[in-house]
Amino acid sequence: MELFRRGKVRDTFDFGDQLLMVSTDRVSAYDSVLPSLIPDRGRVLTQMSRYWFGKTRDLVPNHLLRDRPELIPEAERRRLRDRTMLVARAERIDVECVVRGRLAGSGWQEYRRSGRLAEEPVPAGLGFGDPLPEPRFTPATKNDWGHDENISRAQLAQLIGPELARRLEEISLRIFRLAEVHCRESGFTLVDTKFEFGLIGGGLALIDEVLTPDSSRFWELGADPEEVALGFDKQLVRDYLDRVGWNHEPPPPPLPEELVREVRQRYLEACRRICGIDL
Ligand SMILES: Nc1ncnc2c1ncn2[C@@H]1O[C@H](COP(=O)(O)OP(=O)(O)O)[C@@H](O)[C@H]1O
Ligand SMILES: [Mg+2]
Repeated sequence: MELFRRGKVRDTFDFGDQLLMVSTDRVSAYDSVLPSLIPDRGRVLTQMSRYWFGKTRDLVPNHLLRDRPELIPEAERRRLRDRTMLVARAERIDVECVVRGRLAGSGWQEYRRSGRLAEEPVPAGLGFGDPLPEPRFTPATKNDWGHDENISRAQLAQLIGPELARRLEEISLRIFRLAEVHCRESGFTLVDTKFEFGLIGGGLALIDEVLTPDSSRFWELGADPEEVALGFDKQLVRDYLDRVGWNHEPPPPPLPEELVREVRQRYLEACRRICGIDL
């Protein structure tokens, strides 16, 4: 198969206006691919995305196409099982559509520094992990080579035009609200998540991965935000890298075996409890 693009996590193969996206067990953090693999990670990312593309189809069209198993050489089919999505090639909108229900990650850092979120006011006195009065749309630029950069809604409107910016915000918030309720019923708090959109045949579509532990933070419902081990998401990996003091300059360090096991279990558990898929 002809490689279209090797991303940090996904290998994408070119079939003209269709792309075969293969999620590997590679893991990236702070813009680097780590030397450790986490078994079954790619299967979780694929199966959860598929689930959410189905759930959100009434809110927004997406890139997922019906499988064409014949595209995959027979010798590869077993190895790639559960890891592939055939998708429509999109003209990507180079923006990360982040929605936050609670203060964590770079949203928490901005709030702590400036009392604001995406440069807009937020009530004072909130702590790490506290819920925002309303979910907030906090976009970032999507940069294939460098670091993604948080921008304001005003900057987004300048970048892609006010009409498209408004639509991305509205759709992102709608998906977030639907997912928030679903996650709560599954015993999780959806803290924040990131969507990507593109144009397919001139129409807006949800692309990439959706509501996975890589693109989202899932916390055990009711857990204390200060507890280290409350996440069922990639934050576990970032926290480890922070603890060992990695300076984010390549090469990144390997993950200890015990952490690999823990992250694997948590990804599988998120998939099972949120999507009802037991891998
Ligand atoms: N339907 C699509 N058409 C074109 N590009 C897509 C589509 N869906 C996802 N992508 C892009 O394919 C890449 C997926 O691989 P990934 O490993 O996640 O890359 P990255 O290292 O950029 O996160 C991302 O750059 C994503 O924006
Ligand atoms: Mg990605």
